[in-house]
Amino acid sequence: MKKNNLIVKTKDKKYNILVGNDLLKNTGLFINKEFKNIKKIGIITDSNIPKILIKKIKRSLKKFDTIVFTLKPGEKTKNFKTIDVLINWTLKNNFSRSDCLIAVGGGVVGDITGFAANLIKRGIKFINIPTTLLSQVDASIGGKTAVNSKYGKNLIGTFYQPDLVISDISAIKYLPHREMVCGYAEILKHSLIEDKAFFYWLDKNAKKIIFKRNLDYLKYAIIKSCKIKSKVVSKDEKEKNYRMILNFGHTFGHAFEGITNYSKKLNHGEAVLLGILLICNFSHFNKLLSLHDLNIIKKHYAKYKLPNNYNQFLKNKNFNKIITFIKTDKKNIKQKINLVLIKKIGKSFITKKFSITKIKAFLKTTT
Ligand SMILES: NC(=O)c1ccc[n+]([C@@H]2O[C@H](COP(=O)([O-])OP(=O)(O)OC[C@H]3O[C@@H](n4cnc5c(N)ncnc54)[C@H](O)[C@@H]3O)[C@@H](O)[C@H]2O)c1
Repeated sequence: MKKNNLIVKTKDKKYNILVGNDLLKNTGLFINKEFKNIKKIGIITDSNIPKILIKKIKRSLKKFDTIVFTLKPGEKTKNFKTIDVLINWTLKNNFSRSDCLIAVGGGVVGDITGFAANLIKRGIKFINIPTTLLSQVDASIGGKTAVNSKYGKNLIGTFYQPDLVISDISAIKYLPHREMVCGYAEILKHSLIEDKAFFYWLDKNAKKIIFKRNLDYLKYAIIKSCKIKSKVVSKDEKEKNYRMILNFGHTFGHAFEGITNYSKKLNHGEAVLLGILLICNFSHFNKLLSLHDLNIIKKHYAKYKLPNNYNQFLKNKNFNKIITFIKTDKKNIKQKINLVLIKKIGKSFITKKFSITKIKAFLKTTT
């Protein structure tokens, strides 16, 4: 399979995303080609990442002084304490500004490593090797770094673009099915917000992605997603406005994650899928999305067995908590709730028009 090279351009940085099969064995070559002064490399990973992937990467980095830091997997590790530990580990090991941290893992490892790399000596090199579908199609692109706080998800973080992203599709074969569904959430999101033709392509081919893991179809969906996301990020790196479009489904999604206390009960991607469906219903409820398009989206969920039962999280005892999480979402400015709504498949928009009272009224109709 041919390796593709996508270029992301932001105000601060221009970097490559390499997408292909079996790329990890050439990690050292890619690094040598792009950077001259790296001596030390810190691989940050978590204990669920298949050892074979780490072995391949380490083997290709023989020329460098390479050390590995293994985190506990899962959303609960995404906190400030981990950043502190990681920064101290890097300083103790004498990393200089031209040295490099490589994240090998999903969005959790990527978000943590990017944040630490940004803070250490005001910014050391950061390479991202995403190994989940979700991180290959979304989290590794765009430079958002973050940890969670008790007040909500991703509320602490920075913008720090990676220097290189290596997306090796062969890593996907080790993922549990549930993680395939999570990654698919962000692929579906990209199609719904920006690209009708891509949605209909997915409607026809999602089985080959989620269930069969066909490398060619996966590659097409990954590249298409990377292109949609990098186009948005290039226009609005710091999320002043347009980038919020990528938050489609996430306002409710983050609230669902919040009320389940970021537990394994509900993964990020599953929460996003529920959030997407809920916001599609909200868009229809407010006469923005036609019943025709809403039904096509609902059928897509049914056809590919995507999680769709958000009502279980909207029960009475959760209701007020959901509202609190929506209010504290960081995209809100001056008490106005920023929502991304959809008016057609492939066409979404950002609005501050809907008050908490209106959102509450809608949620009451769904429970
Ligand atoms: N920075 C961004 O722009 C951005 C965008 C979207 C999501 N995110 C963040 O990303 C996180 C979700 O990322 P995720 O879904 O990748 O979750 P994750 O990082 O928790 O990974 C999911 C699980 O899969 C395991 N895993 C990773 N690669 C594997 C492989 N190849 N084979 C087998 N197991 C593997 C992990 O160890 C983990 O247990 C959330 O914290 C979310 O907030 C960030």
